[in-house]
Amino acid sequence: MFDLSSVDLLDAFTRELELCKLKEDEHVVVLSEPGSRGDYVAAAFGAAKSLGAHVIAATVPGGNASPSDSTRTGSGPGLTSVLNDSTAQDLLKSADLVVDLTQEGFIHAPLQQEILKAGTRIIFVCDAPDVLIRNLPQEGDKERVLQAAGLLKRSEIMRVTSDAGTDLTVQLKGAHPEFQVGFADDPGRWDHWPSTMVLCWPEFSDGQLVLAEGDILLPFKEYVRDPVTLHIADGHIEKISGGAEAKLLESFFEDADDQWARSLSHMGWGLMKSADWFATALYGKGELMGMDARAFAGNFLWSTGPHPVLGRESYAHVDIAMRGCTVSVDGTDTVVGGRLVED
Ligand SMILES: [Fe+2]
Repeated sequence: MFDLSSVDLLDAFTRELELCKLKEDEHVVVLSEPGSRGDYVAAAFGAAKSLGAHVIAATVPGGNASPSDSTRTGSGPGLTSVLNDSTAQDLLKSADLVVDLTQEGFIHAPLQQEILKAGTRIIFVCDAPDVLIRNLPQEGDKERVLQAAGLLKRSEIMRVTSDAGTDLTVQLKGAHPEFQVGFADDPGRWDHWPSTMVLCWPEFSDGQLVLAEGDILLPFKEYVRDPVTLHIADGHIEKISGGAEAKLLESFFEDADDQWARSLSHMGWGLMKSADWFATALYGKGELMGMDARAFAGNFLWSTGPHPVLGRESYAHVDIAMRGCTVSVDGTDTVVGGRLVED
């Protein structure tokens, strides 16, 4: 009996660390918890070593601060063992590159910002092997996302419409446009492999979002079957109507008992052309974070709950990936009918 899965992943992890501009003699920490994939730890360790870096594999106790069960949800609350351990934090701050192989990551944990401020770059990896390999980033992706983020930065209004009835107007002033490109190459940069998307953190949006059949609800990793209409006023969900999924969302927000559960969080569109909309249907829920859905080229991705720009800490994070939308930024169409428009 032998296990070659980590060796099989070595090429992909090596390419990924090259994209993260890992240099000889830099210091890499491969962070994991007991539930992390052992083959990823081995592949990241081997890739860092083969590129001439100093590497430490650090495994810390599992468990996070989120009140709900988490199985690769994307809520990124951070492991309690790291949030409460200054030695672990110091290790991460002292690294040039952290390969975060924990199941939920630290995306929405304020600690992550502290680590990044120390100049550490972090690459978070959590999806299934095929998903990582199919969506290995290309160097040129950075230019594409920078261009899209630049458009958001110099614009005032984003308008999202769809044949299904979506019509949302979003104020971009102070919305802090960002991007994800699938590799963390600059000091203090966090990124997620795989991902290619732009997003922003608006405070105010008004109108309605209509989820159509086949749109994807995360973290539930379920496709919408009955259209859902969400009325949005001043960046908050005022009313939800529709069938089964409308009731599911309403229950989720109610159960969360969280003052920000119905408030909109990040929103933007995907640019990942290799993404597969059907990955959500083809894998077990514990195998995926769901980046195929989140970063799918030409989707519109919006979310609820945490909002670091407005200082809203919340565990009630829903990401919803929609197809068939037209996204227009100060009159420039970036997505038309669910298809990405690029120069
Ligand atoms: Fe999210």
